[in-house]
Amino acid sequence: MHELTRKLLAVVATGVLLTPVASLAAGPSIPLDRANNDVRNVASLQRGAQLYMNFCLGCHSAQFMRWNRIAQDLQLTEEQVMNNLMFTGDSIHDTMQIAMPGADAEVWFGKMPPDLSLISRSRGTDYLYTFLRTFYVDDNGNSNNKVLEMTSMPHVLWELQGLQRAAYDENGDWTGFEQIRAGSMSPEEYDRAVRDIVNFLDYVGEPIQVERRRIGTMVIAFLLVFLVLSWLFKREVWRDVK
Ligand code: HEC
Repeated sequence: MHELTRKLLAVVATGVLLTPVASLAAGPSIPLDRANNDVRNVASLQRGAQLYMNFCLGCHSAQFMRWNRIAQDLQLTEEQVMNNLMFTGDSIHDTMQIAMPGADAEVWFGKMPPDLSLISRSRGTDYLYTFLRTFYVDDNGNSNNKVLEMTSMPHVLWELQGLQRAAYDENGDWTGFEQIRAGSMSPEEYDRAVRDIVNFLDYVGEPIQVERRRIGTMVIAFLLVFLVLSWLFKREVWRDVK
């Protein structure tokens, strides 16, 4: 191959390979912390559901999620769900809607708070975990967020986390946060509470996932057994032919 053609090809190939990396890098401006949530942990899902109903459902629906499905998966009775979680909707067969009309939301926040049914799948759990922990008070005294700069979502969990300010080094690079007002939870408790909410959103994003993994394991186990059987069978059939 001609030397120039080869060089050109190399440049094109590098470009093609690096494009996905570049588009990933265009996401959140800070490194994300690992959520490390576990959708099999039912106690965590129950706590997450409770927090979601208290702090998020006021603005964010989860319209693909039905209350009775939550009862079933989170090992709660329908009465428990109706008495402790259902602040909106009339029937256990309803989906998780919000009471706030879209037009009002536009005026209050400049935009409609998004439905969160699929947010864990579009943004990823690490994103959500970091987003909910990086609200801070900026120099103008406004609420801001490190993951989603200038977000119109208020820091709805501030009573739990307290308030924090962003700290910068002499080069102006962000180094972390300084607590300026304590919340009702310690930092560890707050991280756990956020992990529980993220866990619940992860579950909501795909309620069948625990079941899917279980079935998947069984299918693979079956295929492995079947592989051995087929191999034995093949050996038996071909024994006399050779
Ligand atoms: C007072 C209303 C309100 C409440 C309560 C609220 N949010 Fe929001 N949220 C918003 C608005 C408005 C936006 C759109 C923000 C934007 O795009 O700047 C938003 C956006 C989001 C997003 C999308 C961020 C993105 O990357 O686009 C997530 C995730 C989210 N909220 C999670 C939550 C969770 C979890 C809770 C409960 C702990 C919660 N919100 C409570 C108003 C609210």
